[in-house]
Amino acid sequence: MYDAQQTRKLQEHTKTMLVKKEPGIGQDEVEPLRDILRFHEYRYYVQNDPLISDFEYDTLYKKLEKFEREHPASVTADSPTQRVGRGLIKDFPKVQHLVPMLSLENSYNAEDLLDFDRKARELSGLETIEYCVEPKFDGASISLIYDGDLLQRGATRGDGVTGDEITDNIKQIRSVPLSAKFSGYGIQQVEIRGEVLMNKKNFKDYNNALIEEGIPPLANPRNAAAGSLRIKDTAEVSRRKLEAFLYHVSYTATGNKQTASGKKEPETHSGMLDLLWELGFRSPKNEMKVINGIAGVIEHVQDFEKKRDGLDYEIDGMVIKVNDLHLQERLGMTSHHPRWAIAYKFKARQGTSKLLAVEFQVGRTGAVTPVAKIEPVPVGGVTVGSISIHNEDYIREKDLKLGDTILIERSGDVIPQIVKSFAELRTGAEKEIHFPKTCPVCDNPLYKPEEDAVWRCINLACPAHIVEGIIHFVSKDAMDIRSFGEANVRKFYELGLLKDIPGVYRLPFDKIRDLEGFGEKSVTNLQSAIEASKNQPLYRLIYALGIRYVGETTAKTLASAVDHLLDFTQFSEERLQELEDVGVKVAKSVFGFFHNQDNQSLLRELEDLGVQLKNEKKGGVTGGGLEGQSFLFTGTLARLKRSEAEGLVESNGGKILGSVSSKLNYLVVGEEAGSKLEKARKIPSIKVISEEEFLKMLPTL
Ligand code: IVH
Repeated sequence: MYDAQQTRKLQEHTKTMLVKKEPGIGQDEVEPLRDILRFHEYRYYVQNDPLISDFEYDTLYKKLEKFEREHPASVTADSPTQRVGRGLIKDFPKVQHLVPMLSLENSYNAEDLLDFDRKARELSGLETIEYCVEPKFDGASISLIYDGDLLQRGATRGDGVTGDEITDNIKQIRSVPLSAKFSGYGIQQVEIRGEVLMNKKNFKDYNNALIEEGIPPLANPRNAAAGSLRIKDTAEVSRRKLEAFLYHVSYTATGNKQTASGKKEPETHSGMLDLLWELGFRSPKNEMKVINGIAGVIEHVQDFEKKRDGLDYEIDGMVIKVNDLHLQERLGMTSHHPRWAIAYKFKARQGTSKLLAVEFQVGRTGAVTPVAKIEPVPVGGVTVGSISIHNEDYIREKDLKLGDTILIERSGDVIPQIVKSFAELRTGAEKEIHFPKTCPVCDNPLYKPEEDAVWRCINLACPAHIVEGIIHFVSKDAMDIRSFGEANVRKFYELGLLKDIPGVYRLPFDKIRDLEGFGEKSVTNLQSAIEASKNQPLYRLIYALGIRYVGETTAKTLASAVDHLLDFTQFSEERLQELEDVGVKVAKSVFGFFHNQDNQSLLRELEDLGVQLKNEKKGGVTGGGLEGQSFLFTGTLARLKRSEAEGLVESNGGKILGSVSSKLNYLVVGEEAGSKLEKARKIPSIKVISEEEFLKMLPTL
């Protein structure tokens, strides 16, 4: 509908209009302003792809409204002020709402609220008004119809008059009752409005699952909820674990007025929320507050903003509603919003900015993360100047270029993200982002297996990930230097007392003794723990080196394949792949590690410092009774921890395998064993035994 040139022009006009100091506009600016508003409505409602924030839209809308109020003759039938809603997203069957779903007027400060209250008092002739104040849920708006106590229909807001029929999807939301006893209140048919949400935890889990699958995460729970409602597979909708708050009864048709209980329809909004709660809906009964007079309302909404981050779900403001339903009726509505309610919007968590540069940071495990440096922009009370942009694929998927205008969002405790770039605003001066081929810190070549999304620096001598590397090296499952710990690693590094992994064995204890918080005893403990670690089994050292894809089990396999750790410098990728459970991915990584000159020198240095690189235990423990036997554990064991059980196998001369194959002798099965058990049953040579049977095999118990 709008081509690139028109888009750029309209966006330029938008910016000019927004920066204009004077609130009013001239006669010749009215029609261009309407065009601007129509354009942004199309972007928002039809394309689902807004170019400006809600606040910016409201500012422009109010300019037009003000002009039309002062010049009633200038109002045109197609002015954006003259209709309830806008375009529709096609797909689901269209249905008409019983009562048009109007929007709410927005307010951003105390003056706006005072103004709203003044108008309501003037119109009603009352001195003070009782308000019901509740959260403004940040999700996707829905409307439900119950007829004869049964959920008959669920729909999206659509253009306010017509929405998409999504009843089957709504039925997947557990907090929406399929039937509700409205008849007990003499109500035959009712239309209710509410908001569908994905709570913060489910949103995080959902995004993590996406990231694991290599799919870029969603920017906010609102998009996740709105998108989920449009899925055409109800099972998938159910997996999304949506929730719904129902907060408004827009229509009731009376049935039998004479109810057995004598209950009647409430006459206040808070009474309606109680009624909904009573009938099994999740209404904001516990989140709402009834307050007499606007002063208390202002105090409450400002207080509530501070609690925003502590809630399980996202809210973007508060809604202030006149509590008396008769008074609501008297106040009525404009074509756009009711006069008896107003939204108080919290500080925006979205903002537009410019992508100025991309820096590449080297983190733990050597992962190179691109970090976007952006024109500082306030987002939800925090000024954002840089944002992680994950990896190379993400840059491509979001179509990011240096110089791009970008939309930023910071959703609750979620770290800021780039929602999108505005390709249509490009001038041609934007530049491609080039991912470095060598480490930005140590200049060694970066390494990335095909199936991985992240480039890494695998040079252990790289200063950037050295600290994290040392922390991993001394950790419990690695060299197990108990008295070291993360805090000491950081402290010694900062003081220049520890520069690299070999430095662990060269600590200047005379200087450490003088540090605050270090007594003679703690220094002695540290000294002996470091000394003891020199003789840790080889697999611990291999694991401690932090080689990508080498966990404890693979480290054990690797350790049993050599007499000395540096033997791996002679191994080809093919030879590595011959080892149990070593696939292409692991082999590539191990090969790369041991063929790196810096890593080789590091290992020699460790050996000179007394660290055992020889495989003392090659051939396994003898005399334990499990020699030559291999084991694998699956499911939850009742008596032993998995690590204890594996330790027992090894201390009795047996071997732990990483997966089910014909090389396996015993599969020890705990509760809820899964695919490993199924696979083992197909290989007749594998003995499937219980934990009890395993324990009986051990001479040591
Ligand atoms: S009342 C006729 N109450 O905010 C008035 N709306 O920006 C009906 N919203 O379209 C709306 N929380 O989708 C109301 N507690 C709440 C709300 C709420 C979120 C949404 C609703 C509305 C939008 C307006």
